[in-house]
Amino acid sequence: MKDDLLDVIKNAEELHYMEKKDMVSLFRESKYDEALFRAADRVRKKYVGDKVHLRGLIEFSNICKRNCMYCGLRHSNKSIERYRIPPDKIIELAKKAVGYGYRTVVMQSGEDDYYTVDMMKYIISNIKKMDIAITLSIGEKTFEEYEAYKEAGADRYLIRIETTDPELYENMDPGMSHENRKRCLDDLKKLGYEVGTGCLIGLPGQSLESLADDILFFKDIDADMVGVGPFIPNADTPLKEAEGGSFKLALKVVAMTRLLMPDINIPATTAMETLNPNGRTIALNSGSNVVMPNVTEGIYRKLYALYPGKICTGDTPAHCVNCITGKIVMIGREVASDKGFRVKSI
Ligand code: 5AD
Ligand code: SF4
Ligand code: FES
Repeated sequence: MKDDLLDVIKNAEELHYMEKKDMVSLFRESKYDEALFRAADRVRKKYVGDKVHLRGLIEFSNICKRNCMYCGLRHSNKSIERYRIPPDKIIELAKKAVGYGYRTVVMQSGEDDYYTVDMMKYIISNIKKMDIAITLSIGEKTFEEYEAYKEAGADRYLIRIETTDPELYENMDPGMSHENRKRCLDDLKKLGYEVGTGCLIGLPGQSLESLADDILFFKDIDADMVGVGPFIPNADTPLKEAEGGSFKLALKVVAMTRLLMPDINIPATTAMETLNPNGRTIALNSGSNVVMPNVTEGIYRKLYALYPGKICTGDTPAHCVNCITGKIVMIGREVASDKGFRVKSI
């Protein structure tokens, strides 16, 4: 049984296939971790190369109508100060991101209905004039809304499935429907977006089997990007007493996702670096090829408090671009200068 798992990793490296039971065994065992991480790193190098794509993240509103149990921005959390960045200021932040060399901006917010479709179209079309790629991460919308953003110039959309276990999902995200989440991903694909999804690692009640299902789901929907990170308990939420996710397990999910989906974009997430001071570098050496540094300025950074200990909250955008570039160069990699779309290998 034991050495069979080395064959499983070897097989996945060549054929990009793994059975669910073997995924679960690899999650349980720590003996094969290094073999898994090194295989993922080789697949990353072979398919997406040594360039690391930077995406400048603009967190433009921390107002959210949802009540996800794990998230500090949840509607019921009355202990954070809320903000909205006005459209022209968002455009200005995007311009600054271009100045720092970013070729993509990611516009992220809580689910905030203040920004109408017309406002979003105004923001997107103005940013589009800067010849950069635009990623949106603003939650569940209708097909028509997604269509309008696409027509205005949005290229990509991030919406994590969070977990593929419908029951766990609906417990974690009260009032939300797993079916609707999947409908969103489906609509976005149909509309020609590059679609990013992902999951949280270590939610209370989440099984290893369900994490394996998450990875199989990413493959099944042919996600173009997959972002995963450990769940970090937030004192301002009902899950404050929960244990939280482990860095190692999250890293294994990153590595396995790379083995199974060799040509996609996989970010080394901020939550990984929150649990480990070298978390993003380690992820970049275990399958990841993207980093999303923050370009939000001033007080807003601290207020976008999804979870405690979020890195970079006291730093400026200029500091972060230098910091992350240094880390990338230190591990023998290079910052990409193109927009970093997925290049399908098959
Ligand atoms: N810990 C880690 N990640 C979190 N997110 C929300 N709350 C937390 C938390 N407590 C993630 C969700 C969401 C993304 C924007 O942030 O997965 O999709
Ligand atoms: Fe809102 Fe997203 Fe946080 Fe859920 S995870 S409460 S939708 S910001
Ligand atoms: Fe922000 Fe390092 S990337 S301080």
